Amino acid sequence: MSKKEVIVSGIQPSGEMHIGNYLGALKDFVKLQEEFECYFFIADLHSLTEDYSPEEKRQQITDTLIAFLAAGLDPQKSTIFVQSHVPAHVELAWIFNTLTPINELERMTQYKDKSAKQKKNINVGLLTYPVLQAADILLYHADQVPVGHDQIQHLEMTNIIAKKFNNKYGEYFHEVKAHMKDPVRIMSLTDPEKKMSKSEPGSYVGIFDEPEIIRKKLAKAVTATDAPTGEMPKGVKNLFDLLKEFADPPAGGNTFDKFDKQYKDGSIKYSELKSDLAESLITYFAPFRARRAELTKDTEALTKIMKEGAEKAHTVALKTYKEVYEKVGLVWS
Ligand code: TYM
Repeated sequence: MSKKEVIVSGIQPSGEMHIGNYLGALKDFVKLQEEFECYFFIADLHSLTEDYSPEEKRQQITDTLIAFLAAGLDPQKSTIFVQSHVPAHVELAWIFNTLTPINELERMTQYKDKSAKQKKNINVGLLTYPVLQAADILLYHADQVPVGHDQIQHLEMTNIIAKKFNNKYGEYFHEVKAHMKDPVRIMSLTDPEKKMSKSEPGSYVGIFDEPEIIRKKLAKAVTATDAPTGEMPKGVKNLFDLLKEFADPPAGGNTFDKFDKQYKDGSIKYSELKSDLAESLITYFAPFRARRAELTKDTEALTKIMKEGAEKAHTVALKTYKEVYEKVGLVWS
């Protein structure tokens, strides 16, 4: 029997899960678990690099687990766990810190963006964020990593670190690839120049948002941006991208084609497009909201899933970590 390829990915518990995270990552996770050996985790340690409140963080970790499960991740098929429950992530990251050139980290787009956003909190964790991410991925010898467009640079960094390790200590880690059909990049509803982000309220639609909230957020979506003649404005393109994902495939209609035709002949009314898109999102995510209501009631089951997931991940991670220990010249006690 040939060995299944390994898939690893994580999502930070730093606010509500939005439709950008869903299309960029979570939707794929659910499909991939049918075919591959999958490790999906809540990247709680990564999320500490941003400003946060400890009480909210605890809740966000549970909420992210609920989002994983409500979207269709199945603990029988995937190893689902919380990053901080498996200490080898941080331990391997330390070894990788000793191999990673600072200038490679300083040029990371996410580091620059976040440093600009949180000027009073440019912490070391923000700089070494991609090193911990490399440890997350390489601990499980991942073949593919399902992520959105914004994480490509971090995967390149993972491969740089793996190569540095192999050059110094002998061939051990293999190259990882992004798993991506098309580079998915869902833009902010309020500023289509920027990506949809948890840290910008109003920029996103949450996967558990109530119908009224979805309608309100869509009604405010920006469509009038400057675009070179003949090009579709970014805000409009974003709404079309969302229509493609949420309107027709699940419902089997022709909403996308209808608005596409209207756009081309100039008769399009954006208020109608937004309202149809809002209704599509409401319908698409209705089962998610229902499953969340059920899952929220059973905290014991959630704790059990976290515990069992951590145990499974720990077994695999420890094997890698022991091998790394030997290779780098440490003494296992
Ligand atoms: P996070 O929580 O910021 O994002 C989680 C996933 O959602 C994708 N994403 C988007 N995709 C499309 N359009 C958007 N507007 C959008 N916003 C977010 C992200 O690309 C990501 O796939 N660094 C990771 C967390 C992480 C990780 C890992 C991922 C930590 N360790 C190891 C893979 C493997 C992140 O940005 O999470």
